[in-house]
Amino acid sequence: MISRQSIDLVLNSAIIDEVIGEYITLKKRGANLLGRCPFHDEKSPSFTVSPAKGIYKCFGCGKAGNSVSFLMEHDNLSFSDSIRKLAAKYNITLEEDTHQNSEAYNEKQQKRESLLIALTFAKDYFKEQLHTEEGKIAGDSYFRERGFTQQTIDEFELGYSPAGWESLVNEAEKNKFNLDFFVDAGLIKKREEKGTYFDMFRQRVIFPIHDLSGKVIAFGGRQLVKDDKSPKYLNSPETEVYHKSNVLYGMFQAKKEIKAKNNCFLVEGYTDVTTLHQSEIKNVVASSGTSLTEGQIKLIKRFTDNVTVLYDGDAAGVKASIRGIDLLLEQGLNVRTVSFPEGEDPDSYCKKLGTSAFQDFLVSQNKDFIIFKADLLMQGVANDPIKKTEVVKNLLVSISLIPDALKRAAYARECSKLMDTDEKLLLVEINKLRKKGSFISSQNIESEIQEILQAPLPQPEQYFAGVEQEEGLVRLLIQSGYKKFMEEATVADFIFKELHEDDALEIKHPLYQEILNEVQTFMAEELALSEQFFINHANSEIRNLAGTYLTEKYEISPYWAENGTVITDEKGNYVKDLQSVFLFLKLNKVNELITNHLKEFAEAETPEVQENCMQYYIQLMDIRNQIAGVLGVAVVG
Ligand code: UTP
Ligand code: MN
Repeated sequence: MISRQSIDLVLNSAIIDEVIGEYITLKKRGANLLGRCPFHDEKSPSFTVSPAKGIYKCFGCGKAGNSVSFLMEHDNLSFSDSIRKLAAKYNITLEEDTHQNSEAYNEKQQKRESLLIALTFAKDYFKEQLHTEEGKIAGDSYFRERGFTQQTIDEFELGYSPAGWESLVNEAEKNKFNLDFFVDAGLIKKREEKGTYFDMFRQRVIFPIHDLSGKVIAFGGRQLVKDDKSPKYLNSPETEVYHKSNVLYGMFQAKKEIKAKNNCFLVEGYTDVTTLHQSEIKNVVASSGTSLTEGQIKLIKRFTDNVTVLYDGDAAGVKASIRGIDLLLEQGLNVRTVSFPEGEDPDSYCKKLGTSAFQDFLVSQNKDFIIFKADLLMQGVANDPIKKTEVVKNLLVSISLIPDALKRAAYARECSKLMDTDEKLLLVEINKLRKKGSFISSQNIESEIQEILQAPLPQPEQYFAGVEQEEGLVRLLIQSGYKKFMEEATVADFIFKELHEDDALEIKHPLYQEILNEVQTFMAEELALSEQFFINHANSEIRNLAGTYLTEKYEISPYWAENGTVITDEKGNYVKDLQSVFLFLKLNKVNELITNHLKEFAEAETPEVQENCMQYYIQLMDIRNQIAGVLGVAVVG
């Protein structure tokens, strides 16, 4: 049985217009969406979807329900299969539950419900307080001064808690509530000696914190004027319904836009969220000043794999966020960053620039995190080998956390450019870090990185494209196939032996392929190959080719002369000798495998498959570099 929590999670994550939008076209009509009902025939649309409420209703046939009932009805699924389908859509891992019906479970569930009722009551109370005499002067004017619009106040259900010590206590008592639930919800406290109660939030503007379904589960309250005797923001404690580490401020208001934009802006504060929202940047959530947790990252991952972290513009802010970002990388998110000028946060800077300039700023200033970090760390260390080692190590650790091998390889490449170091060596080091897991023996790594930094950079030099090597091979065969190569064998013997030994080597050019086939058949009959075989061949294309190659001047390569080979080109370059032709062919093949392999990486669905791919990739890179080494060329591309 799927656990209640999992079901709640699915229900809260599902965005109804997205779910239904996969089946029918929906058009915006006020706050709702309208489309043709999939359950009965109709000409004019009467099927209404309310994103805010998470429900649909057809005014034609009367069918109504939520995301789950839609799938049950439309796809003819059971309840749990619908939940499973939605869970897959929103990357939710379902938990099975065994104590579904136990008494303890029900009791806990009831307690949760009671806390939620108390919290909702408090939220409504705080909202109303904005309209009282005190609230207008203190709360509402505070929001207005900071530029909050009425729409923002409504959407985020902002409020005000009066200055008195027992305002909420009195209101709750008046409404005959059991105050214990208010205590457990962190809204009020008991004075043990007197047995009376007092409010936790006093004289503060209130930011309710919503769960994914829009239920209020906690509050943040900001002081109106700076007072060092109490915190600037007072936050609800952990309760049965509020687990800080699994909540991001603003997720309820942002989730749909995060999906639509396939990106999530991550900021620090409550006001950063509300101000960006007001500037039409609605895919934004806040970590609320604490470092990110795995639970929060999983929450983001339900809606997107892309995060853009907006740093406060001070050095401490940057350093602090870098730690949280490694966690983002580890969870497989693509992380970009934007940093702000000294002393600015997203809220203040957005107000300073204005909406459209701020939006442009985000677009033009966002950088890939690894590159950002590399740039940041590299500042001023280029001439200091010890510091540079530190930096490279630091970066390699970040890269090694990324689960996707293809991405790691891409970052190794980027960093090799930035650091002026060898890409492959970086990859090898990254892989070692991965094997070691989180424990890194710094001694070793440091000296290895020193070596990497000192390794000479290969000089890039383009090598031949595939068809040129194939041509080289055929040219060799025509010009020198009959010549003695080693002991008893001819060049042609050698060519066929090599081709047969390595199944992977295939000749793709049709004419060259045909020539090789013809020669092989001929030789299979123990006939001696000669220039005449090509010159007199029945196929005119082969005759022409022979005419071209056999009239070229060629000399004996000094390198191969001892072995009796005779291969140089007309310019006297001794490059296309037998061995190098084959090496180039092999190099091409390896490059082809690497390219195919990178595609496989990208499509790999489990970390295990990716890990295997990574191992194979490293092997291929090794072979590639060995061949390139023998050939004396650097591998480009
Ligand atoms: P900041 O001090 O940067 O505040 O804290 P802010 O978001 O810019 O708020 P304004 O603009 O001054 O109103 C960032 C976040 O850290 C948490 C809050 O979530 C805050 O939004 N914080 C900060 C607290 O929880 N308690 C505090 O005392 C201070
Ligand atoms: Mn601020």
